Amino acid sequence: MSKALSKAAVILAAGMGTRMKSATPKVLHKIAGLPILGHVIAGAKGAGATKIVVVTSPDGQAVRDYAGTLGAEAVIQDQQLGTGHAAQCARDALKDFAGVVAVTYGDMPLLTSKTFEASYAAQATAGMAIVAFEAKDPSAYGRVILDRDGMLDRIVEFKDANPTERAVTLCNAGLLAADGKSFFRWAANLKNDNAQKEYYLTDIPLLARADRVACAVARTEEEEVMGVNSRVELATAEAAMQRRLRHRALVAGVGMTAPETVYLCADTILEADVQIEPFVVFGTGVTVRGGAQIKAFSHLEGAEVGKGALIGPYARLRPGAEIEEEVHIGNFVEVKKSRIEKGAKANHLSYIGDARVGAGANIGAGTITCNYDGFDKHHTDIGAGAFIGSNTALVAPVKVGDGAITGAGSTITKDVEAGALAVERADQKQLSGWAERFRAAKKAAKAKRGAK
Ligand code: UD1
Ligand code: CA
Repeated sequence: MSKALSKAAVILAAGMGTRMKSATPKVLHKIAGLPILGHVIAGAKGAGATKIVVVTSPDGQAVRDYAGTLGAEAVIQDQQLGTGHAAQCARDALKDFAGVVAVTYGDMPLLTSKTFEASYAAQATAGMAIVAFEAKDPSAYGRVILDRDGMLDRIVEFKDANPTERAVTLCNAGLLAADGKSFFRWAANLKNDNAQKEYYLTDIPLLARADRVACAVARTEEEEVMGVNSRVELATAEAAMQRRLRHRALVAGVGMTAPETVYLCADTILEADVQIEPFVVFGTGVTVRGGAQIKAFSHLEGAEVGKGALIGPYARLRPGAEIEEEVHIGNFVEVKKSRIEKGAKANHLSYIGDARVGAGANIGAGTITCNYDGFDKHHTDIGAGAFIGSNTALVAPVKVGDGAITGAGSTITKDVEAGALAVERADQKQLSGWAERFRAAKKAAKAKRGAK
């Protein structure tokens, strides 16, 4: 019986990221709502890595905190002496680990778990593996030189390469897989006698060969290994990620009339037969069930949308919005931290916050839950089948019973019992003929002024 080897990943993220010109560490900048580092960690986890170590710079506390939230361990590289040195910093964190280690960089958000898997699989056959890609513009990438059998002969860093080596377009992606114990033994023997006086991760295969361990070369697409070093590259990577997420959604049966105008997050869950009109933005934490329609110019974040619901156009669902089946949320309606139960409708111009709206209730245009008194938030409870008249202000905490009606324009400050009408406004007066007398007087006054 064979037992699959344990897998670990070491992610190098001690770089400064100075070209981002940002107080936020580079790997914490977001792509599709998730920090770059989160994408890399998800890729490693997706390929079965059970232990993940992130190498950070001494001032990278925010990166260490974030890694911790994803169950990864963080270590510190005191001085930036090169990628090989950085990888070596993970040694203690992995001293009890037996299995395969993949080493990669924390700034490649488009790397997929498939590519991690490919590196682990190639390692299993050859002893060691790197991932390479055909570069359209190889510029400063390390060049991958193959031997006659198509295995790795060596990686030459651009700055150390001669013109023949620079002409090679097969480049080092920056993902290497090796047996963990051997890897750290080799890493300890790296030298920095090169153009950059750095300890290169890319020299590991040479040390391995001295131990008769060969290195296979797995391939990937150039897009996957795109590193983010500037805001321009961040935007380019975002665009590529959006294309990928939209494509995945379309393949899964989501309808989009203009996919290029729909912005998704890495964690957006859209079931088959969700229909999305143009210009819809999904923030993090959104789930939309089958048959729901999200109409144009809507913005959703931290929200659940049930089967067959109609959202928008111009709707805003904020965190904690639970929209049940067949609910209608129309134009200029904002819902926050509220459960809108089956079949309820709020079609126009409303704010519903910290509330429950019972099944089948109707929320008239301009209804506002006054949930905040400047200090605390209060709850509004609207019963099933209630009818909230247009422009009702519901001053929370307040309850409207099942089937009750509130008169348009009422400011409701007291609980309304089930089946009652609550109306809060001055009685309407009628002054017969007043309008005509008013107009006649105005007309006469104006004519007198004009005559002067
Ligand atoms: C590296 C590879 C090159 C490959 C390219 C792919 C080496 C020597 N070269 O080059 O073959 O084509 O990536 O993008 O590995 N880092 C640390 N500590 C350090 C140095 C770097 O954590 O001391 C981290 C950086 O944060 C960065 C990553 O390692 O995320 C890569 O380092 P970088 O210096 O950018 O390597 P490249 O020169 O791009
Ligand atoms: Ca780089």
